[in-house]
Amino acid sequence: MPQIPSSARGARFIGWGTSLGHRVVTNDELTASMDTNDEWIRERTGIHRRHVGGSTAELSTISGQIALDMAGIDPKSIDALILATTTPDRTVPATSATVQNALGLACGAFDVNAACSGFVYGLVVAHGLIGVGAERIMVIGTDTLSRIVDWTDRNTAPLFADGSGAAILESTKGSGQLLGWDIDADGSAEEILYAEVGSTIQMNGKEVFRRAVRIMVDSAQKSMAAAGVTTEDISIVIPHQANIRIISAACDRLGISMDKASISIHETGNTSSASIPLALFGDFGQVKPKDGDIVLLVGFGAGMTAASAILRWNAQ
Ligand code: ACO
Repeated sequence: MPQIPSSARGARFIGWGTSLGHRVVTNDELTASMDTNDEWIRERTGIHRRHVGGSTAELSTISGQIALDMAGIDPKSIDALILATTTPDRTVPATSATVQNALGLACGAFDVNAACSGFVYGLVVAHGLIGVGAERIMVIGTDTLSRIVDWTDRNTAPLFADGSGAAILESTKGSGQLLGWDIDADGSAEEILYAEVGSTIQMNGKEVFRRAVRIMVDSAQKSMAAAGVTTEDISIVIPHQANIRIISAACDRLGISMDKASISIHETGNTSSASIPLALFGDFGQVKPKDGDIVLLVGFGAGMTAASAILRWNAQ
Protein backbone atom coordinates (compact mmCIF):
# COMPACT_ATOMS: atom_id res chain seq x y z
CA MET A 1 0.00 0.00 0.00
CA PRO A 2 2.24 2.85 -1.25
CA GLN A 3 1.88 6.27 0.37
CA ILE A 4 1.91 9.46 -1.71
CA PRO A 5 5.10 11.42 -0.92
CA SER A 6 4.28 14.86 0.52
CA SER A 7 6.54 16.39 -2.17
CA ALA A 8 4.57 14.78 -5.06
CA ARG A 9 3.00 17.15 -7.56
CA GLY A 10 -0.78 16.81 -7.37
CA ALA A 11 -3.71 17.14 -9.74
CA ARG A 12 -7.38 18.02 -9.82
CA PHE A 13 -10.31 17.60 -12.20
CA ILE A 14 -10.95 20.53 -14.54
CA GLY A 15 -13.56 18.95 -16.81
CA TRP A 16 -15.66 15.84 -17.29
CA GLY A 17 -18.31 14.34 -19.48
CA THR A 18 -20.38 11.20 -19.95
CA SER A 19 -22.26 9.38 -22.68
CA LEU A 20 -24.51 6.34 -22.90
CA GLY A 21 -25.56 3.90 -25.59
CA HIS A 22 -28.35 5.54 -27.59
CA ARG A 23 -30.94 2.77 -27.21
CA VAL A 24 -32.72 2.14 -23.91
CA VAL A 25 -33.52 -1.53 -23.26
CA THR A 26 -36.04 -2.21 -20.51
CA ASN A 27 -36.18 -5.37 -18.41
CA ASP A 28 -39.50 -6.22 -20.05
CA GLU A 29 -37.87 -6.19 -23.48
CA LEU A 30 -35.43 -8.88 -22.35
CA THR A 31 -38.27 -11.32 -21.74
CA ALA A 32 -38.61 -11.72 -25.52
CA SER A 33 -35.25 -13.52 -25.77
CA MET A 34 -34.83 -15.20 -22.35
CA ASP A 35 -36.74 -16.63 -19.40
CA THR A 36 -36.63 -13.65 -17.03
CA ASN A 37 -38.86 -10.90 -15.67
CA ASP A 38 -38.70 -7.27 -14.56
CA GLU A 39 -39.33 -8.05 -10.90
CA TRP A 40 -36.45 -10.57 -10.64
CA ILE A 41 -33.95 -8.25 -12.33
CA ARG A 42 -34.94 -5.23 -10.19
CA GLU A 43 -34.88 -7.14 -6.93
CA ARG A 44 -31.75 -9.23 -7.52
CA THR A 45 -29.63 -6.56 -9.27
CA GLY A 46 -31.20 -3.08 -8.88
CA ILE A 47 -31.26 -2.61 -12.67
CA HIS A 48 -34.43 -1.11 -14.20
CA ARG A 49 -33.13 -0.43 -17.70
CA ARG A 50 -29.83 -0.10 -19.56
CA HIS A 51 -28.45 1.81 -22.55
CA VAL A 52 -26.85 -0.01 -25.47
CA GLY A 53 -25.34 0.99 -28.80
CA GLY A 54 -22.30 2.72 -30.24
CA SER A 55 -18.69 1.67 -30.46
CA THR A 56 -16.13 2.22 -27.71
CA ALA A 57 -14.46 4.93 -29.80
CA GLU A 58 -17.78 6.70 -30.49
CA LEU A 59 -18.90 6.82 -26.87
CA SER A 60 -15.39 7.82 -25.73
CA THR A 61 -15.23 10.65 -28.25
CA ILE A 62 -18.57 12.04 -27.07
CA SER A 63 -17.65 11.99 -23.36
CA GLY A 64 -14.12 13.25 -24.08
CA GLN A 65 -15.44 16.18 -26.17
CA ILE A 66 -17.89 17.18 -23.40
CA ALA A 67 -14.97 17.14 -20.92
CA LEU A 68 -12.83 19.28 -23.23
CA ASP A 69 -15.69 21.79 -23.71
CA MET A 70 -16.24 21.99 -19.94
CA ALA A 71 -12.53 22.54 -19.28
CA GLY A 72 -12.39 25.10 -22.10
CA ILE A 73 -8.86 24.08 -23.07
CA ASP A 74 -6.96 23.53 -26.31
CA PRO A 75 -7.07 19.77 -27.07
CA LYS A 76 -3.40 20.03 -28.01
CA SER A 77 -2.56 20.92 -24.40
CA ILE A 78 -3.41 17.37 -23.24
CA ASP A 79 -0.19 15.42 -22.57
CA ALA A 80 -1.64 11.89 -22.61
CA LEU A 81 -4.90 10.03 -23.14
CA ILE A 82 -5.60 6.93 -21.05
CA LEU A 83 -8.61 4.88 -22.17
CA ALA A 84 -9.78 2.25 -19.70
CA THR A 85 -11.73 -0.39 -21.57
CA THR A 86 -12.25 -4.12 -21.67
CA THR A 87 -14.10 -3.88 -24.99
CA PRO A 88 -11.71 -2.23 -27.49
CA ASP A 89 -13.07 -1.80 -31.01
CA ARG A 90 -10.13 -3.66 -32.51
CA THR A 91 -7.43 -5.94 -31.15
CA VAL A 92 -4.92 -3.61 -32.84
CA PRO A 93 -4.57 -0.64 -32.66
CA ALA A 94 -5.60 0.48 -29.19
CA THR A 95 -8.96 2.28 -29.29
CA SER A 96 -7.32 5.21 -27.49
CA ALA A 97 -5.44 6.02 -30.74
CA THR A 98 -8.77 6.33 -32.62
CA VAL A 99 -10.16 8.57 -29.86
CA GLN A 100 -6.97 10.68 -29.72
CA ASN A 101 -7.38 11.46 -33.43
CA ALA A 102 -11.13 12.08 -33.22
CA LEU A 103 -10.67 14.58 -30.38
CA GLY A 104 -7.80 16.43 -32.09
CA LEU A 105 -5.32 15.55 -29.35
CA ALA A 106 -1.58 15.53 -30.06
CA CYS A 107 -0.23 13.25 -27.36
CA GLY A 108 0.50 9.69 -26.34
CA ALA A 109 -2.54 7.43 -26.05
CA PHE A 110 -2.90 3.97 -24.55
CA ASP A 111 -5.57 1.55 -23.37
CA VAL A 112 -5.76 0.09 -19.87
CA ASN A 113 -7.68 -3.15 -19.39
CA ALA A 114 -8.48 -3.83 -15.74
CA ALA A 115 -12.16 -4.62 -16.40
CA CYS A 116 -14.51 -2.70 -14.10
CA SER A 117 -11.58 -1.41 -12.01
CA GLY A 118 -10.11 0.21 -15.14
CA PHE A 119 -11.15 3.84 -14.59
CA VAL A 120 -9.57 3.95 -11.13
CA TYR A 121 -6.45 2.20 -12.46
CA GLY A 122 -6.31 4.90 -15.18
CA LEU A 123 -6.81 7.67 -12.64
CA VAL A 124 -3.90 6.42 -10.52
CA VAL A 125 -1.65 6.18 -13.60
CA ALA A 126 -2.70 9.72 -14.63
CA HIS A 127 -1.69 11.11 -11.25
CA GLY A 128 1.64 9.31 -11.67
CA LEU A 129 2.20 10.96 -15.07
CA ILE A 130 1.45 14.36 -13.56
CA GLY A 131 3.92 13.53 -10.79
CA VAL A 132 6.65 13.16 -13.44
CA GLY A 133 5.90 16.39 -15.28
CA ALA A 134 2.71 16.10 -17.37
CA GLU A 135 0.38 19.11 -17.08
CA ARG A 136 -2.90 17.69 -18.34
CA ILE A 137 -4.11 14.11 -18.75
CA MET A 138 -7.43 12.85 -20.08
CA VAL A 139 -8.75 9.62 -18.55
CA ILE A 140 -11.74 7.93 -20.16
CA GLY A 141 -13.55 4.80 -18.99
CA THR A 142 -15.70 3.24 -21.72
CA ASP A 143 -17.23 -0.16 -22.29
CA THR A 144 -19.62 -1.58 -24.86
CA LEU A 145 -20.38 -4.86 -23.16
CA SER A 146 -23.58 -5.35 -25.16
CA ARG A 147 -21.28 -6.44 -28.00
CA ILE A 148 -19.82 -9.36 -26.02
CA VAL A 149 -22.98 -10.54 -24.27
CA ASP A 150 -25.08 -13.51 -25.36
CA TRP A 151 -28.51 -11.89 -25.56
CA THR A 152 -30.22 -15.20 -24.81
CA ASP A 153 -28.25 -15.84 -21.58
CA ARG A 154 -30.24 -14.72 -18.56
CA ASN A 155 -27.18 -15.12 -16.31
CA THR A 156 -25.33 -12.25 -17.98
CA ALA A 157 -27.44 -10.29 -20.48
CA PRO A 158 -29.61 -8.44 -17.93
CA LEU A 159 -26.49 -7.10 -16.19
CA PHE A 160 -24.24 -5.52 -18.80
CA ALA A 161 -24.54 -2.39 -20.93
CA ASP A 162 -22.70 0.44 -22.72
CA GLY A 163 -21.43 3.81 -21.54
CA SER A 164 -18.51 6.16 -21.13
CA GLY A 165 -17.17 8.72 -18.67
CA ALA A 166 -14.24 11.08 -19.22
CA ALA A 167 -12.25 13.36 -16.94
CA ILE A 168 -9.42 15.84 -17.49
CA LEU A 169 -6.81 16.23 -14.77
CA GLU A 170 -4.57 19.26 -14.47
CA SER A 171 -1.48 19.64 -12.31
CA THR A 172 -1.80 21.77 -9.19
CA LYS A 173 0.65 23.59 -7.03
CA GLY A 174 0.81 21.53 -3.87
CA SER A 175 -0.65 18.17 -3.07
CA GLY A 176 -3.87 18.04 -5.15
CA GLN A 177 -6.92 15.82 -4.83
CA LEU A 178 -5.50 12.29 -4.50
CA LEU A 179 -4.90 11.33 -0.87
CA GLY A 180 -4.55 7.56 -1.15
CA TRP A 181 -4.95 4.74 -3.65
CA ASP A 182 -4.87 0.99 -4.08
CA ILE A 183 -4.80 -1.33 -7.09
CA ASP A 184 -5.08 -5.10 -6.73
CA ALA A 185 -5.37 -8.21 -8.90
CA ASP A 186 -5.81 -11.92 -8.20
CA GLY A 187 -5.29 -13.79 -11.48
CA SER A 188 -6.06 -17.12 -9.80
CA ALA A 189 -9.75 -16.09 -10.05
CA GLU A 190 -9.78 -15.42 -13.80
CA GLU A 191 -12.02 -18.41 -14.64
CA ILE A 192 -15.03 -17.01 -12.75
CA LEU A 193 -15.50 -14.16 -15.24
CA TYR A 194 -13.99 -14.10 -18.71
CA ALA A 195 -14.63 -13.80 -22.43
CA GLU A 196 -12.43 -15.54 -24.99
CA VAL A 197 -11.32 -13.35 -27.91
CA GLY A 198 -14.30 -13.06 -30.26
CA SER A 199 -16.69 -14.76 -27.84
CA THR A 200 -19.19 -13.83 -25.12
CA ILE A 201 -18.95 -13.27 -21.36
CA GLN A 202 -18.97 -16.38 -19.16
CA MET A 203 -19.64 -15.78 -15.48
CA ASN A 204 -20.04 -17.66 -12.21
CA GLY A 205 -22.23 -14.95 -10.73
CA LYS A 206 -22.45 -16.34 -7.20
CA GLU A 207 -18.67 -16.64 -6.87
CA VAL A 208 -18.11 -13.16 -8.33
CA PHE A 209 -20.63 -11.77 -5.84
CA ARG A 210 -18.96 -13.52 -2.90
CA ARG A 211 -15.49 -12.25 -3.76
CA ALA A 212 -16.62 -8.80 -4.91
CA VAL A 213 -17.79 -7.65 -1.50
CA ARG A 214 -14.60 -8.84 0.20
CA ILE A 215 -12.18 -7.29 -2.31
CA MET A 216 -14.07 -3.97 -2.44
CA VAL A 217 -13.91 -3.67 1.33
CA ASP A 218 -10.26 -4.74 1.41
CA SER A 219 -9.24 -2.24 -1.28
CA ALA A 220 -11.21 0.61 0.30
CA GLN A 221 -9.55 -0.06 3.65
CA LYS A 222 -6.08 -0.02 2.07
CA SER A 223 -6.78 3.33 0.37
CA MET A 224 -8.20 4.84 3.53
CA ALA A 225 -5.16 3.70 5.51
CA ALA A 226 -2.81 5.14 2.86
CA ALA A 227 -4.73 8.43 2.96
CA GLY A 228 -4.83 8.52 6.76
CA VAL A 229 -8.64 8.72 6.87
CA THR A 230 -11.33 6.53 8.43
CA THR A 231 -14.85 5.66 7.32
CA GLU A 232 -16.15 8.56 9.46
CA ASP A 233 -14.25 10.96 7.21
CA ILE A 234 -15.84 9.64 4.00
CA SER A 235 -18.48 12.06 2.67
CA ILE A 236 -19.37 10.19 -0.51
CA VAL A 237 -18.76 6.72 -1.95
CA ILE A 238 -18.67 6.15 -5.71
CA PRO A 239 -18.84 2.34 -6.01
CA HIS A 240 -18.65 0.22 -9.14
CA GLN A 241 -22.25 -0.36 -10.25
CA ALA A 242 -22.46 -4.15 -10.69
CA ASN A 243 -25.31 -5.08 -8.36
CA ILE A 244 -27.15 -2.95 -5.78
CA ARG A 245 -26.82 -5.82 -3.28
CA ILE A 246 -23.01 -5.88 -3.70
CA ILE A 247 -22.88 -2.11 -3.08
CA SER A 248 -25.13 -2.40 -0.06
CA ALA A 249 -23.16 -5.32 1.46
CA ALA A 250 -19.82 -3.54 0.91
CA CYS A 251 -21.10 -0.29 2.47
CA ASP A 252 -22.50 -2.28 5.37
CA ARG A 253 -19.17 -4.02 6.04
CA LEU A 254 -17.29 -0.75 5.75
CA GLY A 255 -19.72 0.92 8.16
CA ILE A 256 -20.67 3.59 5.62
CA SER A 257 -24.34 4.55 5.22
CA MET A 258 -25.90 3.73 1.83
CA ASP A 259 -27.14 7.36 1.79
CA LYS A 260 -23.56 8.34 1.02
CA ALA A 261 -23.31 6.06 -2.02
CA SER A 262 -23.94 7.39 -5.51
CA ILE A 263 -26.19 4.92 -7.35
CA SER A 264 -26.84 4.92 -11.08
CA ILE A 265 -27.17 1.20 -11.76
CA HIS A 266 -30.98 1.41 -12.02
CA GLU A 267 -30.58 3.43 -15.25
CA THR A 268 -27.23 2.24 -16.62
CA GLY A 269 -26.72 -1.41 -15.68
CA ASN A 270 -23.10 -2.52 -15.35
CA THR A 271 -21.01 -0.47 -17.78
CA SER A 272 -17.68 -1.81 -16.45
CA SER A 273 -14.92 0.82 -16.94
CA ALA A 274 -17.57 3.54 -17.38
CA SER A 275 -19.45 2.67 -14.24
CA ILE A 276 -17.54 4.78 -11.69
CA PRO A 277 -17.26 7.93 -13.86
CA LEU A 278 -20.96 7.62 -14.79
CA ALA A 279 -21.91 7.44 -11.09
CA LEU A 280 -19.56 10.33 -10.27
CA PHE A 281 -20.18 12.71 -13.18
CA GLY A 282 -23.37 11.46 -14.88
CA ASP A 283 -26.97 12.58 -14.48
CA PHE A 284 -28.24 9.52 -12.59
CA GLY A 285 -26.04 9.40 -9.47
CA GLN A 286 -28.01 11.27 -6.77
CA VAL A 287 -25.04 12.05 -4.51
CA LYS A 288 -22.56 14.61 -5.88
CA PRO A 289 -19.37 15.81 -4.16
CA LYS A 290 -18.83 19.41 -3.13
CA ASP A 291 -15.61 21.23 -2.32
CA GLY A 292 -13.71 19.69 0.57
CA ASP A 293 -15.63 16.39 0.56
CA ILE A 294 -13.60 13.22 1.06
CA VAL A 295 -14.66 10.88 -1.74
CA LEU A 296 -14.05 7.13 -1.92
CA LEU A 297 -14.00 5.58 -5.41
CA VAL A 298 -14.01 1.77 -5.24
CA GLY A 299 -14.41 -0.90 -7.88
CA PHE A 300 -13.80 -4.55 -8.69
CA GLY A 301 -13.85 -6.51 -11.88
CA ALA A 302 -12.79 -9.48 -13.92
CA GLY A 303 -9.27 -10.67 -13.20
CA MET A 304 -10.25 -10.37 -10.46
CA THR A 305 -9.10 -6.84 -10.07
CA ALA A 306 -9.94 -4.22 -7.49
CA ALA A 307 -9.06 -0.54 -7.23
CA SER A 308 -9.89 2.37 -4.98
CA ALA A 309 -8.90 5.97 -4.46
CA ILE A 310 -9.51 8.62 -1.81
CA LEU A 311 -9.95 12.13 -3.19
CA ARG A 312 -10.35 15.46 -1.44
CA TRP A 313 -12.78 17.12 -3.83
CA ASN A 314 -11.41 20.38 -5.21
CA ALA A 315 -12.52 20.24 -8.83
CA GLN A 316 -12.49 23.46 -10.84
N1 ACO B 1 -34.22 -14.01 -14.38
C1 ACO B 1 -34.99 -14.82 -13.62
N2 ACO B 1 -34.49 -15.80 -12.82
C2 ACO B 1 -33.16 -15.93 -12.80
C3 ACO B 1 -32.30 -15.13 -13.57
C4 ACO B 1 -32.88 -14.12 -14.40
N3 ACO B 1 -32.17 -13.29 -15.17
N4 ACO B 1 -31.03 -15.51 -13.35
C5 ACO B 1 -31.07 -16.50 -12.46
N5 ACO B 1 -32.36 -16.79 -12.12
C6 ACO B 1 -32.88 -17.76 -11.20
C7 ACO B 1 -31.92 -18.94 -11.03
O1 ACO B 1 -32.12 -19.92 -12.01
C8 ACO B 1 -32.28 -19.42 -9.64
O2 ACO B 1 -33.47 -20.18 -9.71
P1 ACO B 1 -33.65 -21.49 -8.79
O3 ACO B 1 -33.60 -20.99 -7.36
O4 ACO B 1 -34.98 -22.03 -9.20
O5 ACO B 1 -32.48 -22.38 -9.12
C9 ACO B 1 -32.62 -18.14 -8.91
O6 ACO B 1 -32.96 -17.16 -9.90
C10 ACO B 1 -31.47 -17.61 -8.10
O7 ACO B 1 -30.31 -17.61 -8.93
P2 ACO B 1 -28.93 -17.19 -8.40
O8 ACO B 1 -27.87 -17.42 -9.43
O9 ACO B 1 -28.74 -17.75 -7.02
O10 ACO B 1 -29.16 -15.60 -8.27
P3 ACO B 1 -28.32 -14.57 -7.46
O11 ACO B 1 -29.14 -14.01 -6.39
O12 ACO B 1 -26.95 -15.08 -7.12
O13 ACO B 1 -28.15 -13.42 -8.54
C11 ACO B 1 -26.54 -12.49 -10.05
C12 ACO B 1 -27.44 -13.69 -9.75
C13 ACO B 1 -27.42 -11.27 -10.25
C14 ACO B 1 -25.76 -12.78 -11.31
C15 ACO B 1 -25.59 -12.26 -8.84
O14 ACO B 1 -24.96 -13.45 -8.48
C16 ACO B 1 -24.53 -11.22 -9.12
O15 ACO B 1 -24.82 -10.04 -9.29
N6 ACO B 1 -23.25 -11.63 -9.17
C17 ACO B 1 -22.17 -10.70 -9.43
C18 ACO B 1 -22.07 -10.45 -10.89
C19 ACO B 1 -21.14 -9.29 -11.20
O16 ACO B 1 -20.97 -8.39 -10.43
N7 ACO B 1 -20.55 -9.35 -12.40
C20 ACO B 1 -19.80 -8.26 -12.90
C21 ACO B 1 -18.40 -8.21 -12.42
S1 ACO B 1 -17.62 -6.77 -13.00
C22 ACO B 1 -16.81 -7.04 -14.52
O17 ACO B 1 -15.63 -7.23 -14.56
C23 ACO B 1 -17.57 -6.99 -15.78
